[in-house]
Amino acid sequence: MYSSNTTQLKYASIGVKVFLLSAFTFLFGALCSGLAYVTAGRVRVLVLAARYILAASLAFAVITVIVHLIMPDTYRICEMVRRGLYCPAYGNPLHLRDGVLLPLVRCKKAGLGLYDLTITARSVTVETIVNASSAISSMLNRKFERYAITQTNTDVAYNYVTFRLEDVTIDRSLTYHSVKEMRPGDPTVLSVQNGTSIDLTTSGSMLVAGVTRSGKTTGIIALLLQVLLAGRDNYQSEVIIIDPKRAELSQLPYVVTLDDNGEATQILAAMEHFADTIVQRQRVLNRLSVERGDAVHWWEAGFHPSFIFIDEYVSCRTMFPKKGTKNSPSYSIEQFDSFVKRIVTMGASAGCYMIISIAEASVDEGGLPSMIRSAMSTRVLFQPTLAEGRLIWGGSNEKLKNFAVDRVYGKGDAWFSSTDGVHDVVSFVHFPYMKFPVYGELGRLLQAYYKDNRVNNTPPPSEAEAAVPKAKQL
Ligand SMILES: Nc1ncnc2c1ncn2[C@@H]1O[C@H](COP(=O)(O)OP(=O)(O)OP(=O)(O)O)[C@@H](O)[C@H]1O
Ligand SMILES: [Mg+2]
Repeated sequence: MYSSNTTQLKYASIGVKVFLLSAFTFLFGALCSGLAYVTAGRVRVLVLAARYILAASLAFAVITVIVHLIMPDTYRICEMVRRGLYCPAYGNPLHLRDGVLLPLVRCKKAGLGLYDLTITARSVTVETIVNASSAISSMLNRKFERYAITQTNTDVAYNYVTFRLEDVTIDRSLTYHSVKEMRPGDPTVLSVQNGTSIDLTTSGSMLVAGVTRSGKTTGIIALLLQVLLAGRDNYQSEVIIIDPKRAELSQLPYVVTLDDNGEATQILAAMEHFADTIVQRQRVLNRLSVERGDAVHWWEAGFHPSFIFIDEYVSCRTMFPKKGTKNSPSYSIEQFDSFVKRIVTMGASAGCYMIISIAEASVDEGGLPSMIRSAMSTRVLFQPTLAEGRLIWGGSNEKLKNFAVDRVYGKGDAWFSSTDGVHDVVSFVHFPYMKFPVYGELGRLLQAYYKDNRVNNTPPPSEAEAAVPKAKQL
């Protein structure tokens, strides 16, 4: 129960309490030994008392040191936050009244330099707890001074609030000096940075936004290199790259770009082909599911993920006429949109994903219908601003509130979310630094990927030569 008369000592940490006990017993022991000295040891009980009390004081001092050394960080954080919330001397940030139940405080380690602090609303509303976030952040001192609240998650039933505490000084970015280092241990998981990856078994297509030169294409290439390194499967997996601007990517093998006459028929054909592979892969999975009598997922059937990446989606879309002509009735925006919709909504269950990059977050004007935007379950915004973030994650998104808006974002810095149960809340990431000729390696790996024999069903060479665990076979 909250009491406005509580002393600071009540919520002092265990270490402080044992230390005070040690100091107190020491003084008492010193007093006894002083008296024993004055009485020249004639009062036997004083001599014994002095000896035992000083021994106890020493034991408490040792316990203080042990507590200091072994106390887990999660416990320390809980102690600091409890003291800040429960002790009136700290300003009572939750506006608790006398006699009400104290909110429960728990803390769990969530990774390197990451903690989840959960405060259960018993006598206060979750809004009050959320509003106290800056006060809670400032309660963390000493060892946790570098920690800040980077995410706030309110439980759907409004019972508790979880704050993500993050050591903002830790650099979690990945640096690759050669493309080989990027080979994924499991083809269904694509690394973004230490502690952050995209789990393709639980997420879908990806929307990548950001101003020009912010790192979109490079960031997406970092993901596609991992897909290419896992090799091709025997079920028509693809890595199709579409560069509608005839820019750097279009110089690479197997990259689809505009026709020589400036039309985009090859692009539409590539999308149609990709949409077809979804149908065929799904057919295989359905057959396996019938055989097994239970649903078989693509990764259980030995499929590898399959990708189609449209760089600069908006300019790609504007290549198409509104309506098809008599000669080519399907060459139209309508057809393009319907392929996008099919791939985004139906692809993931067959391990097929679309990545769309857009330079402007204002998606509706840019031609990305909000229905498709909301179906894209992984979202990345490079060099973000709060205004753009609202467009990507929805205007009223509370989850963006805690981001330091005045922070300066460099190339490759991004906000990231994915519906995999771990990264649902938007967080800050830096896409990998790749210290090798990226475009050259991408071209080489595309060659190797498509050299993988799809005619006679042998395992793709890139897979065979890799000393990595194979996809889980049935
Ligand atoms: N993860 C990263 N870390 C560090 N620097 C990066 C990163 N990604 C990209 N850069 C730098 O930013 C530059 C621009 O990157 P990129 O071409 O990927 O941006 P973009 O958003 O696709 O731009 P555009 O609008 O021109 O297509 C790169 O040449 C590179 O120097
Ligand atoms: Mg680009």
